[in-house]
Amino acid sequence: MSPELLLLLLLLAAESTAPLPDVNTGLEFVVAFPENIAYYYPDRPKMVIQITALYDETKITIKQHSFGTICKTQDKGASQDYILHAKMEIYKEETSDITLQIHSDKSITVHAINQKSSSLQTALVLPTDKLSLAYFIPPVPEIQRTTRPAEIVTTDVTERSPFKLVIVNGNKPNEVKVEGSGNETFSLQPFQIQQIWVKAEMELRKVTANHPVAVLFGHTCAIYHSCTCGQLFTSLPPAQSEVQKYYIPEFLAKYAENKSVVLLSKENSTKVQAFDMNSPLVEFDGSAIFYRPGLLISLIPETDFASCYVVSTINDTMSYAVIVVRKNLTDGVRVRDLPVQKTLWQELNGTDFRSASVTLLPGKSAIWHTSSKMAVYFVGNKENAWFGNPAPILSHIPDFRGCVLSPEIVKIGPNAGGWRESLQNCSEDQLDLVSFPDAQLQTQIYEQLRQANKNNLQEVWIGMRRSSMSGEWYWLSDAKVNHSNWEEGEPGTMNDGQCAIMSLAKGFGWRDEDCCKAAHPVCYKEPVFFPVE
Ligand SMILES: *[C@@H]1O[C@H](CO)[C@@H](O)[C@H](O)[C@H]1NC(C)=O
Ligand SMILES: *[C@@H]1O[C@H](CO)[C@@H](O)[C@H](O)[C@H]1NC(C)=O
Ligand SMILES: *[C@@H]1O[C@H](CO)[C@@H](O)[C@H](O)[C@H]1NC(C)=O
Ligand SMILES: *[C@@H]1O[C@H](CO)[C@@H](O)[C@H](O)[C@H]1NC(C)=O
Ligand SMILES: *[C@@H]1O[C@H](CO)[C@@H](O)[C@H](O)[C@H]1NC(C)=O
Ligand SMILES: *[C@@H]1O[C@H](CO)[C@@H](O)[C@H](O)[C@H]1NC(C)=O
Ligand SMILES: *[C@@H]1O[C@H](CO)[C@@H](O)[C@H](O)[C@H]1NC(C)=O
Ligand SMILES: *[C@@H]1O[C@H](CO)[C@@H](O)[C@H](O)[C@H]1NC(C)=O
Repeated sequence: MSPELLLLLLLLAAESTAPLPDVNTGLEFVVAFPENIAYYYPDRPKMVIQITALYDETKITIKQHSFGTICKTQDKGASQDYILHAKMEIYKEETSDITLQIHSDKSITVHAINQKSSSLQTALVLPTDKLSLAYFIPPVPEIQRTTRPAEIVTTDVTERSPFKLVIVNGNKPNEVKVEGSGNETFSLQPFQIQQIWVKAEMELRKVTANHPVAVLFGHTCAIYHSCTCGQLFTSLPPAQSEVQKYYIPEFLAKYAENKSVVLLSKENSTKVQAFDMNSPLVEFDGSAIFYRPGLLISLIPETDFASCYVVSTINDTMSYAVIVVRKNLTDGVRVRDLPVQKTLWQELNGTDFRSASVTLLPGKSAIWHTSSKMAVYFVGNKENAWFGNPAPILSHIPDFRGCVLSPEIVKIGPNAGGWRESLQNCSEDQLDLVSFPDAQLQTQIYEQLRQANKNNLQEVWIGMRRSSMSGEWYWLSDAKVNHSNWEEGEPGTMNDGQCAIMSLAKGFGWRDEDCCKAAHPVCYKEPVFFPVE
């Protein structure tokens, strides 16, 4: 075996053991815009992509089929709208190569908006490497004048056609299979689209593919206002077979409690369940999508809850973040840098959870938790028409200081040495001997050390010492020693030692110690944060 191959296998092995679910950020995306006939032709919809950059000087290229390319550089935290060529819409034809391809050199999030007057639908777009190989096809909701009465449904007339699936291929030549009463297989080129009618007699159950694909589910004409109709679409969630808990915030059903249902689908069955706000928890061993007139939205299972999301508002609409979090953890929720007002929280009856809907200020908002995980949906309203999608996840790592893009490093150094040597040893790994002046940071680091101390070390050097001039204690980071954890009777006099050592055996208490004593250091690196303000 070549050394390169071995290294690759080792890297793959290391990756596959990563315990955290994925974030929704990446470098390559493909987007399709299903036909939007609202207000009828010849008006064309306005198709927009919102991109948020995670790092400075992110170079973004947006290739619009054969209609030209947009190139732009965005900085960390910047969120930008890109208005696309009007002909990016895909019509009724079965296969199409009209897709939008987005490439960037650093991680971004992508949100797609398809708007024609008040017919507006949005989608969270996942990077191609995080798309799935299998999706369950949900049951079609009953919508008067669209799917009911059944005899009006015909593929001849766009407004009265069945629901459809839009399968969007990723970056590899692919074989896609749609399973039902009969199976159909399609070959797709990279970034090609396949559209499939969901006719009742086909009993469609599942889409599977050899390489990752995205699947949209919806209808071109399923929301009625005055004498026209708007489109209704959602991106399907990846097929799930474990039992999942879905907590449904009442806000999703606002003004439509009686007309809201949950569309459930798994390997060999589907179910439409009426939504009851008195029992907002749905447990199901498959995928769940919420439907109310005007809105189809994938529900976020508890296992996918995350610590930081980012959403951007859409011009001339009301935009909300709808948050679901454990009851006793509502205090830790932040929208930008502010807690959520206590009065906004509503109980989810019969569960340990609460939800809130927060009106978003124009522009980008990071929504994050200081110590735990939660679900966040982006929901909007324009002229009484609803739209929304699960908010894009930036991070699964909670931190009281903000939204973590790459985690802090807390590491017990491999060698025991004096305090000065330890300082040197940490810096050889581009780390610092730990300074942790803040009380909350101390708690957070103690917890990590509890887990990191596999060799049951008794004590470790920390980045604090006495000034030999004044005798005062100071942190290496120059922060004031304002909150300390000295053991009883500590620190002693100058003669007892000039350096601070921490006990791992007894409550992480500190003492002064002779700087030449040999001990392992605690090395540290600050996390990288997404700007939340
Ligand atoms: C469709 O494919 C699935 C999975 O490969 C298989 O179990 C099923 O029997 C097939 N159905 C038909 C009608 O061929
Ligand atoms: C839902 O239906 C019940 C009885 O069928 C009715 O009392 C209630 O007002 C309805 N709620 C809404 C929001 O329409
Ligand atoms: C559905 O599949 C499960 C296992 O995958 C099986 O136990 C069950 O009997 C099946 N149900 C039906 C109705 O075929
Ligand atoms: C919770 O649901 C039960 C049963 O539907 C109902 O009796 C009770 O009033 C509800 N409680 C709240 C706080 O809504
Ligand atoms: C929304 O408004 C902002 C600020 O005025 C503007 O930069 C952006 O292009 C607008 N977006 C769209 C899709 O019109
Ligand atoms: C919150 O409640 C859960 C159980 O519902 C419990 O396990 C957890 O420790 C609590 N957390 C806090 C911070 O009280
Ligand atoms: C750390 O310190 C030891 C001696 O205490 C030394 O041998 C080693 O090279 C140092 N560097 C690293 C990276 O461990
Ligand atoms: C201690 O001071 C540092 C800055 O010197 C500050 O960040 C921290 O919040 C302070 N902690 C407390 C508990 O006052």
